[in-house]
Amino acid sequence: LMVPKSLMAKDDEDVDLESGKSRVSIFFGTQTGTAEGFAKALAEEIKVRYEKAAVKVIDLDDYAADDDQYEKKLKKETLAFFCVATYGDGEPTDNAARFYKWFTEGNEGDIRLQQLTYGVFALGNRQYEHFNKIGIVLDKELTRKGAKRLIGVGLGDDDQSIEDDFNAWKESLWPELDKLLRGEDDTSVVTPYTASVPEYRLVIHDPSLISDKTMDSNVANGNAAIDIHHPCRVDVAVQRELHTPESDRSCIHLEFDLSDTGITYETGDHVGVYAENHAEIVGEAGKLLGHSLELVFSIHADKEDGSPLGSSLPPPFPGPCTLGTALAKYADLLNPPRKGEYSKWIAASQRSLFEVMAAFPSAKPPLGVFFAAVAPRLPPRYYSISSSPRLAPNRVHVTCALVYGPTPTGRIHKGLCSTWMKNAVPSEKSRECSGAPIFIRSSNFKLPSNPLTPIVMVGPGTGLAPFRGFLQERMALKEDGVELGPSLLFFGCRNRRMDFIYEDELNNFVDQGVISELIVAFSREGAQKEYVQHKIIEKATQVWNLIKEEGYLYVCGDAKGMARDVHRTLHSIVQEQEGVSSSEAEAIVKKLQTEGRYLRDVW
Ligand code: 2AM
Repeated sequence: LMVPKSLMAKDDEDVDLESGKSRVSIFFGTQTGTAEGFAKALAEEIKVRYEKAAVKVIDLDDYAADDDQYEKKLKKETLAFFCVATYGDGEPTDNAARFYKWFTEGNEGDIRLQQLTYGVFALGNRQYEHFNKIGIVLDKELTRKGAKRLIGVGLGDDDQSIEDDFNAWKESLWPELDKLLRGEDDTSVVTPYTASVPEYRLVIHDPSLISDKTMDSNVANGNAAIDIHHPCRVDVAVQRELHTPESDRSCIHLEFDLSDTGITYETGDHVGVYAENHAEIVGEAGKLLGHSLELVFSIHADKEDGSPLGSSLPPPFPGPCTLGTALAKYADLLNPPRKGEYSKWIAASQRSLFEVMAAFPSAKPPLGVFFAAVAPRLPPRYYSISSSPRLAPNRVHVTCALVYGPTPTGRIHKGLCSTWMKNAVPSEKSRECSGAPIFIRSSNFKLPSNPLTPIVMVGPGTGLAPFRGFLQERMALKEDGVELGPSLLFFGCRNRRMDFIYEDELNNFVDQGVISELIVAFSREGAQKEYVQHKIIEKATQVWNLIKEEGYLYVCGDAKGMARDVHRTLHSIVQEQEGVSSSEAEAIVKKLQTEGRYLRDVW
C-alpha cells in the first residue's frame, strides 16, 4: 500500500532537530501509570534545566509500528532514558512487551547503538523474586549493543518509597547531564527546579443541562477495541460465597455476562475489573473536599484556547460527570497516598489517602488539583479467569478472596474490588443487578497444545482459579473424544470443612478422568502445617518423571510466600532426582522456564 507523502505524519526526528536542539527521548513501560508519571516528571525537569534539550515522552507501544521500524528509529536516538516497570513473574508491562521481546531476543542480526547515550530507571518491588528484572536486562542489553551508559540503572522499590529512589537517581543524573547538555563554557547557574503542583482546568456545568458521561457509557458493542483504556460495562450474572459458614474468611465466585458485548477470551487469560469506591467512602470524601456530590463538572488538560497545560498531566477522565461519580469511579482513595512523611506515618501504618484527608479536614485542595495530583487514578484490578470459553463462551468467571482486616491505625481495610464483588447483586437474583467496566488481558499461561502432554498444576487457595479453566477445557476436549495425558493438581487450603473451594467440581474432574490425581494439603487440620510443597516432595519421583521429558509445570497464587517456596522445592527435587549439584539444578530449572514449560501466574 502506497501512502502519498503529503498524507504521512511528519517524522518525529525532523521536528525537534530543526532548531539545533539536542533531542532527548524518554520512554516508559507502565502498567498503572507510575512509570509514565516518572517519565513525564523527568521530561519536565530536563526541559527546565536545559534550554537546548528537545524532550519527548514516548509510550513504548507507540514508538514503532513494527520491528524493522524499531531498529531504524533507535539508530537515530542519541540520548534516551527508559522508565520501565517489572510486572508479575518478572515480566514487562503490556505496553513494553513487544519492544522488550524484540530488543532482547528478536534481533539476532544484532543492531549496534554506539551513537546512543542512555539511562534506565527501573520500577519494581523488592519482595518479588525478579526484582526489577526488565530494567536490569534492558540496561545490560543496551550496553551490549554498544550504547553508552550515562548513569547506573536506578532500582526503584515500591515496597519502600519509590519516589525517594527516583529522586536519588535523578540527583546523580544531573552532574552527568550537565556535562552533556551544557557546554563547558556555560557557567550560568542552573535554574533550580521547583515542581509546580499539577492542576486540571475545571469547568462547572449546569446539572439540568448535562447527563452523566463516564468511561464505559459510550463503548460501542463489538466495534471499539476493548482494552484497559476502553473497558466495556458488563452485568454480574452470578455471585456466590465459596467458603462454608464455618470459615471466618470469604471467597467469592462471580460470573460476568459477556452476551452481546463481543468480548472473547482464552483459557488462562486475566480479566481487568474497574470496581467503584463504596458509597460511604464517596460521601465522606465529598465532605472532606467541601463539595456536594451532585456538583457536575469536567476536567481538562488544556487551556481554554486549546493549548496544553503541561505534559505531566494524565489524560483527564470523561466528563461532565457528578463529583459522586468521579470519586466513585476514578479516585484511588483507599491506597496510601504517594508522598510526604512517607515511611512511618503512611507506609508502615498503611494509612490510605482517605485517612490522610480525614486527618487534615482543613486541607481542601481544589478539585482540579485533587484529581490531577492528590488522588491517583483508580486502576483496574486483575483476576486470573477461572472459566474456559469452551464451557462458558458468554461468561467470565472470577474466584476472588475477600481482602478484609485491621491496619496498624485500627482502621478496617476493605479491599476495593473484592468488597465490591462481595456486595455485587447478580442478575439471577435481581433485575437491578450490579455491573462493572471490564476488559481482557491475555496471558501466556496456557495449556500445552498437545493434550497428551503431562501437566502438573500447583494452585492453593484462589491460585486454583486458572486451573479450573484448564480443567473445564480438558473436560470439553474429552467430551469431543480427545485423549488426555496425565495431570496432577496440587491444591491447598486451611480446612476441608471451611475453604475447600469448588470441592464437588474437582472431585467430578477426577471421576471423569480429567485430573489423574488431586492432592490436597490442609494447613490447619493437624498439629503440623501441611502445604502444597510438602505434598510435592512426598511425590517427588512421580512429579519429576512427568515434567522431566516433555511435561509442563504450572504454579499459580501468592508470589512472595507460596510460589517462592514451591520454586525452592522444585530446585531441590531436581537436585535430588537427577543427582546433580545446586548450580546444575538451577540450569535445568532455568531451561524449563525458557522453554515455557515452567509457567507461573503469581501475584
Ligand atoms: P495457612 O493460611 O494455614 O498458612 C491457601 O491460602 C493455602 O495456602 C492456605 O492453606 C495457606 O495456609 C497456604 N499457604 C500459606 N503460605 C504458604 C506458603 N508459603 N506455601 C504454601 N502454602 C502456603
